[in-house]
Amino acid sequence: MPERVADAPWLIWLLEAIHRGQVGLLQLLYGLGWTGEVDGQPAWPWTQRLAGEYLLVDQAQARQLAWSLGAIAAALVLLALAMLWRRRRRRSLCLLGMALAAVVLAPWPSRQVVLVQAVPSSFHRNPLPFTDAAIVRGAAQYRRLCLQCHGAAGDGQGPEASAQPVWPPSFIGPLLWRRADGELLQAVRYGVRDGQGRPTMAGFAGQLSVAQSWELLHFLRAQAAGRLLNATGNWAQPVALPDMPLRCHRPDKTRVRDWRGQRLRLVSLADARQLPPDPRMVTLWLPPAGPLPALPEQVDCIVVSGVVAQQALGLVNGDAAMRDVQLLADKDGWLRARNSRAVGNWNDEDLLCRSTQDTQAPATPAAPVAEDGLTRILRRMDLEPVRYVKGGRVHGLR
Ligand code: HEC
Repeated sequence: MPERVADAPWLIWLLEAIHRGQVGLLQLLYGLGWTGEVDGQPAWPWTQRLAGEYLLVDQAQARQLAWSLGAIAAALVLLALAMLWRRRRRRSLCLLGMALAAVVLAPWPSRQVVLVQAVPSSFHRNPLPFTDAAIVRGAAQYRRLCLQCHGAAGDGQGPEASAQPVWPPSFIGPLLWRRADGELLQAVRYGVRDGQGRPTMAGFAGQLSVAQSWELLHFLRAQAAGRLLNATGNWAQPVALPDMPLRCHRPDKTRVRDWRGQRLRLVSLADARQLPPDPRMVTLWLPPAGPLPALPEQVDCIVVSGVVAQQALGLVNGDAAMRDVQLLADKDGWLRARNSRAVGNWNDEDLLCRSTQDTQAPATPAAPVAEDGLTRILRRMDLEPVRYVKGGRVHGLR
């Protein structure tokens, strides 16, 4: 699976370096006033960019690129030495020759693999936090502008799909995770064209503000994560626990994101007092619809955004009812496990977002005391952090 690159740390490093190098260059150009802005962020001025995404698929090319970048670095060092020693003609000429040879002899990867089409917003990042409110606002825009082609479920089966020049894609797959945020934004705002330059989808920049466009992308991902979960039984593409407003015993915690660095358990039981307290994680209670109950002792916080939280969580959970469910998020904020059996015991199958391919739990040394399912899940969440690739690059959470 190209998506998971945990077994090739050098490749993660290379992709990150390629990305940072290009973003750094863009910032520099923007700082110098050599490029402007589009949709609120610096515009990439070229029609091509270095691509990480294909290097993931083709590791041989990635290796070649790594060697070539190494050769450039070596050539630069040799050039610097040649400058230093320019009084000693013979030695400096020899160094220049070596620098040239390093660049010429480097195993350059093929151009088509390393360069891909870019748009001005290729390096844009979604500036809006992944909140329940943003997701729900995105859902409303989706119903207004996108549903007729892309379908109520995002599967590309809308009533007008068959009238389009090409069939609209399904979002219930890796598409939204494979593409860079900024290139999805470009498609939504300025449309999509086929290989001959004919429009296949019109752009929506006239009907959507930039912020609304980003909210739509948050919604699309939340919906796709839940639908993928229903279809495959896994959060095959990682999704974060949406940020939501809270009321907590600790007055300094007012949102989910204030707990970053802690394991979180979100429970949607009718009565949170049934839940045995567990000091290994922070417990957030999503109360049933209706007037907000008092904050019980058994939980750390109560989610206060009501139906908005219900809807957003229902999407990532793939089940709008969101009743009697427990969701676990890891210290980075990724949703990792779900228990739909109210307060029933956890087992290995509840771990729904794994960063290793195996479906078996790693062999545990024979312990004299049997370990319970929740302990095993928590350990795996900590030991196997989510590393995933979007637009060819490994992301953590902001
Ligand atoms: C009139 C039909 C129609 C409507 C309305 C529509 N789309 Fe599309 N969309 C398409 C078609 C057709 C494609 C496939 C284009 C292609 O692959 O050339 C597409 C492709 C896409 C893609 C994939 C782009 C890519 O580069 O692969 C995204 C993302 C997308 N649409 C988002 C949206 C959003 C968000 C909305 C609502 C604001 C929307 N679409 C409304 C027909 C539509």
